[in-house]
Amino acid sequence: MNSIIVAVDGPVASGKGTLGRRLAERFGFAYLDTGGLYRAVALRMLRGKHALDDVGILVAQAKALEPSDLADPALRDEKTGEAASIVAPVPELRAALLEYQREFASAPPYDAPGAVLDGRDIGTVVCPNASVKLFVTASAEARAQRRFAELTAKGEDVELATVLEDLAKRDARDSGRASSPLVPAQDAHLLDTTKMDIEAAFQAAEAIVAASMKSS
Ligand code: CDP
Repeated sequence: MNSIIVAVDGPVASGKGTLGRRLAERFGFAYLDTGGLYRAVALRMLRGKHALDDVGILVAQAKALEPSDLADPALRDEKTGEAASIVAPVPELRAALLEYQREFASAPPYDAPGAVLDGRDIGTVVCPNASVKLFVTASAEARAQRRFAELTAKGEDVELATVLEDLAKRDARDSGRASSPLVPAQDAHLLDTTKMDIEAAFQAAEAIVAASMKSS
């Protein structure tokens, strides 16, 4: 039986991670946070003090990734996210990470009947044939507010204005790049969560996925 693939794409702090994780739990699917792969490569580059534009080292680090890299708490740091968005446009790095993502989607771990992948290019490039595609957005202000709350809850000393500025920079980088830019797939369901709390957003996403599963 073919795996059911749910693609969840969207910009920084749109809520796609939380939604992806909860959808996976709800439907008994495996979950892959593909941003974590880019973050893990970026973290290896930062720790090794490598130049972020060294393509050879980027590809080598991607190939050397291990499960423990994906569990590193430093992955979620702002500077790791920033570095991830700097290395993510490199086509050779994207190519090096593609096979793992496709394999995860088509043959999910633990024989799960499906997989939820969240990222920027899941519905457009990684899994263009996904069973259902969600594109999750929210206004820049709402997203900055959420990221700010997340960071202060972790004890980080940040200013809301700085978070908003950093987010705008990353949005511009992710949307403006030539390889796999952040754009909704033509057949994606748009979900604007600006005025929704996470529960309302989850219910809306769940309804979209359930309806697509029924009709396929
Ligand atoms: O959680 P947040 O929205 O801050 O970011 P993330 O999903 O962890 O992704 C970090 C960075 O990795 C993004 O800014 C993108 O530049 C890059 N990324 C990508 O290029 N393609 C993906 N499929 C996922 C992430």
